[in-house]
Amino acid sequence: MKKKFLAALMCATLTVTTLAGCGGDSAKDGKNDIPTSQTGGGNENTGDDSPENSGGSDSGIVIGFSQVGAESDWRTANTESMKSTFSEDKGYTLKFDDAQQKQENQIKAIRSFIEQDVKYIVLAPVTETGWDTVLKEVKDAGIPLIIVDRMVEVSDDSLYTAWVGSNFKLEGDKACAWLKAYADAQGVKELNIVDIQGTIGASAQIGRSQGLEEAVEANEGWTLLAQQSGEFTQAKGQEVMESFIKQYGDKINVVYCENDNEAFGAIDALTSAGYTVGTDLSKGEVLVMSFDSTNAGMTDVLSGKIVCNTECNPLHGPRVEEIIKALEAGNEVEKQQYVEEEIFAAGDEVTSITVGDDSFDVTTVTQEVIDGRAY
Ligand code: AHR
Repeated sequence: MKKKFLAALMCATLTVTTLAGCGGDSAKDGKNDIPTSQTGGGNENTGDDSPENSGGSDSGIVIGFSQVGAESDWRTANTESMKSTFSEDKGYTLKFDDAQQKQENQIKAIRSFIEQDVKYIVLAPVTETGWDTVLKEVKDAGIPLIIVDRMVEVSDDSLYTAWVGSNFKLEGDKACAWLKAYADAQGVKELNIVDIQGTIGASAQIGRSQGLEEAVEANEGWTLLAQQSGEFTQAKGQEVMESFIKQYGDKINVVYCENDNEAFGAIDALTSAGYTVGTDLSKGEVLVMSFDSTNAGMTDVLSGKIVCNTECNPLHGPRVEEIIKALEAGNEVEKQQYVEEEIFAAGDEVTSITVGDDSFDVTTVTQEVIDGRAY
């Protein structure tokens, strides 16, 4: 208890660059489900009108960053990547705002960044729609806006300067191509799938759900029993899985989780209800699939609790910095940049998959693979 209190106190007083380390443990224990305001998370904003920086006077290039929240291990790694990239040592002041998964908080933060006349605004949007008005205000203020991670759907593309993030639809397609090849290799035709979706309306949810829905349409014998949002959190993932178990019980043989934290919750729900989570469909084991490939997620692939994990890379800090450096130098930047991502599996039954005209290697997870990764 004492240790926890001291850690919380230290977190509350440390500077922006060190904050991410305070919550750096895996969210498998549900830690990341606690709203930041309850964790003593220092300068991380709770949606008021004044996103803060590390406390000193603003110096160097001042950047306002509106972050979605702290809902997952992926998000923690993403925040850490941004904070360590945009450090004071490197000549930046990062004004960081945690929106706690609420668009209204992001809009407030963006307006506050405009008032503070920051040089750049970086937005990791919680959902795709609803941005036109505030982004027009950013444009009118003459502040370049960089979108990171998820996408925005706006009527006018000139409302943002550049976007860098993942191809979420491709992630969903890759996961389903792997599932098809794997089920074929096991000689199983009947798949009864439940989908624990991400935050509804987020690009990561839209792309991954769509990939699955299309695959279900295309594959005879595949049934999508149910879809429900787990909001990308472990607690909600567990809750949704418990309700799927009540409704469909033994019918379920595949759980498609739209991120690692939901998968951790689903695994807890399944094992508590007496199901065996594993890799062998013919033995009645339940396959749990996931996205992100965080360290904790990959550890569950190594032990066979997650059968396949499609990567979503969170290390966007250096990518955003490259865009800002190019803008500082007066150079043109690419409007949209997709990050290249891998796919990982527990076994080696499927070594490559094809999506459209492209083929992708599937990496079998070993401890060495995990040790070689940065998040
Ligand atoms: O937008 C990226 C998604 O958001 C990640 O898959 C998830 O873990 C996060 O919360």
